[in-house]
Amino acid sequence: MSGSENEHLEIIRKSLKTCPNFPKNGITFIDILGIFSDPTAHRALIDLILTRIRKFDTKIDAVVGLEARGFIFGPQIALELQVPFLPVRKHGKLPGKLVKVDYALEYGTDTIEMQVDILKSGTKILLVDDILATGGTLSAAQKLCAKLGYDVSETLVIIELLGLGGREKLANIDHFTTLFQYS
Ligand code: PRP
Repeated sequence: MSGSENEHLEIIRKSLKTCPNFPKNGITFIDILGIFSDPTAHRALIDLILTRIRKFDTKIDAVVGLEARGFIFGPQIALELQVPFLPVRKHGKLPGKLVKVDYALEYGTDTIEMQVDILKSGTKILLVDDILATGGTLSAAQKLCAKLGYDVSETLVIIELLGLGGREKLANIDHFTTLFQYS
């Protein structure tokens, strides 16, 4: 798709929906799913992410995506790069031998898991998700990849919510890419 990065960003931005008081009062949810119901915005998103990846100083060997919305665009990025895609899933969804990391929620904890023995130790990973909020999920996913011996070279989200301390929790922050920031 032709056009500058700013033009791509503008096309994508128009398909993002801000949803006040969802999933509960006082929370404003940003819905990224509108991107995928508009093929022009979808194309702009994939092309923009590929443009950012071309600027990385490390060649990416695999893409790892987080449940659920990291599964929508992560596999497509992996296919464009001709590299494997691996999922990070919530507890109880994956079969086989797994590694697990627990992380804190507002109330309680959750667990994410990945299957072992799929990629070699030292594989250079791009980790993707839709949104960084408190950073709990993405930082747990970084730890999960590290447990498997993978090198999380780059981490990318579509949206970063500012003011929640998310990026402070991330490892390798110099290699964190966000397309949009909201306060
Ligand atoms: C959302 C979002 C991120 C995470 C960000 O997922 O897709 O994965 O929260 O929040 P954090 O930075 O505070 O950890 P959610 O837990 O709602 O699960 P889902 O994608 O399966 O709906």
